[in-house]
Amino acid sequence: MTYFELYSYAKKYLTEYEAMCIMEDIFGIDRLKLAIHGNDVPESEIEFMTAVEKRLSGMPLQYATGKAYFMGREYFVGEGVLIPRDDTEVAVNECINSMKGTERVIDLCSGSGIIAVTLAKEFPQAEIYAVELENKAYEYLEKNVEYHSTDVRLIHDNIFNENCVDGEFDIIISNPPYIRTDIIPDLQSEVQYEPTTALDGGNDGLDFYRCIAEKWIKKLKKGGKIILEIGEEQAKRVSELLKMQEITQICVVKDIQNLDRVVLGTVKK
Ligand SMILES: C[S@@+](CC[C@H](N)C(=O)[O-])C[C@H]1O[C@@H](n2cnc3c(N)ncnc32)[C@H](O)[C@@H]1O
Repeated sequence: MTYFELYSYAKKYLTEYEAMCIMEDIFGIDRLKLAIHGNDVPESEIEFMTAVEKRLSGMPLQYATGKAYFMGREYFVGEGVLIPRDDTEVAVNECINSMKGTERVIDLCSGSGIIAVTLAKEFPQAEIYAVELENKAYEYLEKNVEYHSTDVRLIHDNIFNENCVDGEFDIIISNPPYIRTDIIPDLQSEVQYEPTTALDGGNDGLDFYRCIAEKWIKKLKKGGKIILEIGEEQAKRVSELLKMQEITQICVVKDIQNLDRVVLGTVKK
């Protein structure tokens, strides 16, 4: 089949947007290229057909194509790693705005590595660390760090072991698992494809925030910053956890839907 016929085939079953995304991700053919090269025949159509089938079976588009995008960059994803969400831009932007460029920063629960890679690309002189426990997610983290040719220091460990890395940090940033265990079975069907280990924040959804507050804040330098992505109803309780560790200037930042999305604060000087 030609590119045009393949596109038309996908469009019969999927939305136009999804069919176009699969064309782009598998063949690198966008709308303009399709108009010019539509009658050419690809070397193989297997990967394209497999992606269409996977999407038809209900798999999230990003898993079907193996690619996701965050702040203008492309990342490899697949089952076993959380699909990046645009919401995470709020935390990353807060971090970028507070950096000068040579800081020592650690991204806890790094997943595909979108946070660490973005910071490393924006600030090549900074010392960026990324911690991830799960094997599959760690494989994607390694692959994305390499793909973007960044110098992120990778740590394959459990964040409940704060001794997995030495020294103090200027910034700790994290988008940890924060969904209450009892809610997980009710999440929409596409989310059910994502690893529970990336979602499950324990009985009250706060296990990882408690861990970060109790074990990691002491690893911040004086004047250092903590930046945490949160679930929309967690701002008050996460702020309280930070207050208990003598974090000051605590504030909550909203996302574009006007929902609480990030809690941040500073260690007393
Ligand atoms: C909500 S996802 C966030 C991934 C990525 N930071 C992002 O924003 O897309 C949380 C990540 O934490 C990892 N994780 C879960 N438990 C962990 C632990 N105890 N130590 C380190 N990482 C953990 C999961 O595998 C998952 O990749």
